[in-house]
Amino acid sequence: MLKRITLTQFLVSRQRDKSLINADLRLLIETIARACKGISTRVTKGALADGLGSAATKNVHGEAQKTLDVLSNEILLEANEWGGNLAALASEEMEDPRPIPTHYPRGEYLLLFDPLDGSSNIDVNISVGTIFSVLRCPKTDAGAYCDPSEQAFLQPGRQQVAAGFAVYGPTTLFVITVGDGVYGFTLDRETYSYVLTHPDIKIPEDTQEFAINMSNARRWEPPVKRYIDECLAGSDGPRGKDFNMRWVASMVADVFRVLSRGGIFMYPRDSKLKDGRLRLMYEANPMSFIVEQAGGAATDGTTRILDLQPSALHQRCAVILGSKNEVERVTSYHRK
Ligand code: F6P
Repeated sequence: MLKRITLTQFLVSRQRDKSLINADLRLLIETIARACKGISTRVTKGALADGLGSAATKNVHGEAQKTLDVLSNEILLEANEWGGNLAALASEEMEDPRPIPTHYPRGEYLLLFDPLDGSSNIDVNISVGTIFSVLRCPKTDAGAYCDPSEQAFLQPGRQQVAAGFAVYGPTTLFVITVGDGVYGFTLDRETYSYVLTHPDIKIPEDTQEFAINMSNARRWEPPVKRYIDECLAGSDGPRGKDFNMRWVASMVADVFRVLSRGGIFMYPRDSKLKDGRLRLMYEANPMSFIVEQAGGAATDGTTRILDLQPSALHQRCAVILGSKNEVERVTSYHRK
């Protein structure tokens, strides 16, 4: 029988053998992974646990919150507040960052998360997930950790020290990077532990599959329209090969597919969504870090996403990520 490597063993090896992470970061990732087990359990219960439907509240983006959006946010907050490894947390569902309460010790990291990505899919039983990103809390000139206000979070994505996501699908998967490749773990429902099932994920450089919401086609910018038109023309067009299309409308599921078998995922800006739709800090940055670590590329069309300097916690951006050569092709169309 193959030796099973659990998430804990994997993280200990990253800490002890490779000195890639310290004990605080290991504990933080384990705590997030544990919280994701709780969210997975609630998602799986669906209507049996009153988990479906709307919460009658709106989030900071003016979107109707689902019951499970609110619950998942609470699960992540509660799990992470007391560990002593964080200075503050920020959630896509909360307007302002939340500093760690003063009665708990504060640590060196900042955690950002989208507690339930793709939540409009919950009621129709399609995969959803959790995305997270970890940054270091900046220090003052005197060497102390600075006040973890919004400003402290506004760091370009290349400064992330860890990022990951969970997919609550037919199986629950937990995917992480700490900057040395991408690793995927499957939740074993019998032992309730995460087992390494997708070691060192690599995205093929070429692809014949694209993911985009085609209903926005009439509003796209010319470079995106050109790229998709060429894919649609298939073997009769300039690409000389047929393309397939997939759109789950849960970024976690679409990105996991790209990690598994290649592809390009796009949520471009358009004449209505002038800044794009996805959130830089909660979706684009962590996913771009993961995709780059798996050998892929991620851009907003002109700039590498990990180089974008954020100006607001909840800002949106265009996202084009996945197989390197295809992302490069879209970028070259933008240059022209
Ligand atoms: O940002 C949330 C999200 O659900 C993503 O997970 C997904 O990629 C996108 O929005 C889907 O958008 P649309 O409903 O426009 O297809």
